[in-house]
Amino acid sequence: LSHDFHGGISASDPMPCSPPQTLSTRRQLYERDFPLYQRPVEIGCFSLDLERRFFNDARQLRYYVEPEHHPNFNLRDGYRDRYVKRDDGVKERIDHILRWILANRSKLRPSETAAASSPPRVLGVEFVTWRGHLTKLLTTPYETREGWLLAVTRLHGTLYMSEVETEAARQERQTRTARHQEMMYWGYKFEQYTCAATAGGRPDQGGVVNTNEAFCTVVRTQLASHRLLFSGEVDCRDPHPSAPPAPFCYLELKTSAEICTPKQRSNFHRYKLLKWWAQSFLPGVPRIIAGFRDDDGVVVAVETYETSKISQLIKNEYNCWKPTVCMNFCSEFLSFVKTVVREDNPRVVYLFSWEPHREVSYSIHRDTDYCFLPDWYVKEITS
Ligand code: A3P
Ligand code: MG
Ligand code: MG
Repeated sequence: LSHDFHGGISASDPMPCSPPQTLSTRRQLYERDFPLYQRPVEIGCFSLDLERRFFNDARQLRYYVEPEHHPNFNLRDGYRDRYVKRDDGVKERIDHILRWILANRSKLRPSETAAASSPPRVLGVEFVTWRGHLTKLLTTPYETREGWLLAVTRLHGTLYMSEVETEAARQERQTRTARHQEMMYWGYKFEQYTCAATAGGRPDQGGVVNTNEAFCTVVRTQLASHRLLFSGEVDCRDPHPSAPPAPFCYLELKTSAEICTPKQRSNFHRYKLLKWWAQSFLPGVPRIIAGFRDDDGVVVAVETYETSKISQLIKNEYNCWKPTVCMNFCSEFLSFVKTVVREDNPRVVYLFSWEPHREVSYSIHRDTDYCFLPDWYVKEITS
């Protein structure tokens, strides 16, 4: 991978003055009023089957089944013999979202008037990305361990953002302990204990856990002045016919170590609830069902968290995270990206990078392995 240009603007850039080179992640800078965040609208969904094949429908959507009062879920069951693990060495980038866009182009075209009055933003949105990438942006002002790399390409006015695995993340992935690898299975096993394939169905506790399978919602929303389209994996929905429409019927499932001491409770509030809140707030998922498990992977309690009440729950923690800081930082980052990413070219990647205790910076890459918009997409969306 070559770095042919570092920072600054390209010679062809028409901007009269240079955009800023870096963006600060200091929390204090983002402590102001909560920015506009439009109620997310589900504009579609897609499914990935047990071989990770794309379908433009909800076939993989699952239905929540409330556990008994004293469930006896053993999350270790099936790890050895009923587990098909997705190959996380395969980088899918944003390909599934691009497939969804091509399959739903008619729904996305901006209206005649909007198309006539503004540059040809084929999609009527300014940013296309995964929800998970936005979650990382939201938590950045509070993150002290893991940095990130985000590749951004401008095509027909739309900014596509796709994460690049950091060297540290690759190392971590390739050197996980046997215990850690098993614990990564526990979250999926909990999903199997609490989900059915049909409304009114029963969980298939003896079945295979296959982490290739996924159901993803595609939502449109606006953060401050930024019009966003993103997709996120959804664990299940409320099975009741009277449940609100998507995305407000969706539920996020989580597992966490049982809380036995005040210190553990404080850490749970400060670190885990931040990630849980950011992930579910973005697509408008209203509830998070948490299975608390012991060290042997046995679920000892199940609790429901309302996403909108999490920030109240943590207010007693000293120097705790604030939703407004998360959202204002994300909004500022997207503004930064808009000013930096000027060249509209599928072969050019602006790579934004951040490490804890540093500022966000970027580099520019032309015709390199960082390019992530596939030819099949560029060809089809340009025609
Ligand atoms: P838990 O959330 O119970 O930990 P998600 O909660 O986002 O739906 O993800 C489902 C499960 O995938 C997680 O369950 C966890 O087991 C696994 N998982 C997700 N992200 C992970 C990560 N970065 N590292 C390890 N495991 C992860
Ligand atoms: Mg999930
Ligand atoms: Mg989950």
